[in-house]
Amino acid sequence: MDHKKDRREFLQLTGKAGLSTIVGSAAGINLGVFDLAHAQPGKKVSPFRFAMITDSHLYSGDDHKFDRQLEDAIEQVNSMEIKPDFVLYGGDIAQNGTEDQLAKGRKLLSKLNTKLVLIPGEHDWYVDMGAAWKGMFGQDTWSFDHKGVHFIGMNSILVPDFWTAKQLSPRERMAAMEMLEGPIGGLWGVGEKQLEWLKKDVAKLSPDTPIVTFTHSPLWDYYPRWNFQTVDGPQIREILSKFENFTSIHGHVHQTIYNKVGNMTSIGAMSTSWPWPYPPVKLAYPSSQMNRADPGNEVDGMGTLAVNVKAGGDKLVEYQPFADTLTPFLKKGLKA
Ligand SMILES: [Fe+2]
Ligand SMILES: [Fe+2]
Repeated sequence: MDHKKDRREFLQLTGKAGLSTIVGSAAGINLGVFDLAHAQPGKKVSPFRFAMITDSHLYSGDDHKFDRQLEDAIEQVNSMEIKPDFVLYGGDIAQNGTEDQLAKGRKLLSKLNTKLVLIPGEHDWYVDMGAAWKGMFGQDTWSFDHKGVHFIGMNSILVPDFWTAKQLSPRERMAAMEMLEGPIGGLWGVGEKQLEWLKKDVAKLSPDTPIVTFTHSPLWDYYPRWNFQTVDGPQIREILSKFENFTSIHGHVHQTIYNKVGNMTSIGAMSTSWPWPYPPVKLAYPSSQMNRADPGNEVDGMGTLAVNVKAGGDKLVEYQPFADTLTPFLKKGLKA
């Protein structure tokens, strides 16, 4: 018996069950398993899985609880029964953007037993405008093809220079950008240079190529005053509008969130640090906001995300809350 194949079929079934679990979350169950079967079946995509860890917000010093929570996520990913082909880190490794915090993140993430790709968050960037982050993790804009899917990573947390005129020090600049409400830095986005790069990057791809983008912030206006947005998201969506199968995955919001805008399916990942509250807006999906099952449990509402890309490019997304022990993708015997 092909055990892995059975597993995939099982996940597909749980996806459908999970959908109704979320919609009818009267019991406050925070296990989100979505079946995102919107794409046209094609022939080019071979099934595989990738995982996402994001928003660890590591502080300086040793033995902080956020270190252990990131280690927990890494252990969960390393223990997946179907090994992910790669892991995306979705930004905000550091809390205050300092080199020691980023280095601690690099050290912890080196325990992953698979390839790692990263994009930055605002908490990683504004002490030295990305110098330490780039030195440790490479370029903040990139793309690659994997088993028939085109993956794109972009830096979505760029703002025009607000610090020179105000004569802010690097740490003051970082402090201005760290705030959830960030009136000084203003709304952020990817900027002209990355938009031009994106146009060229996808120019030769045929419309049936499945596209997955990774940005720290969502590519739609979820709640702009917390930068739950990307200011040039509409231009990105326009550039990618020719594709039949376009999925945007993001961090920053520290919660499960899903939407569809035009041809884009958007998925937000939970953090490994703390859950943000849902902002006071009506959600496209789920229409009822997900409750935390156990507000007394400090890791409830945090976790990791895994995406199973099925033949043809359909994607099955699973959230792995730390507080949950019933999730299907853990190896038997591992304690969640
Ligand atoms: Fe964050
Ligand atoms: Fe962020």
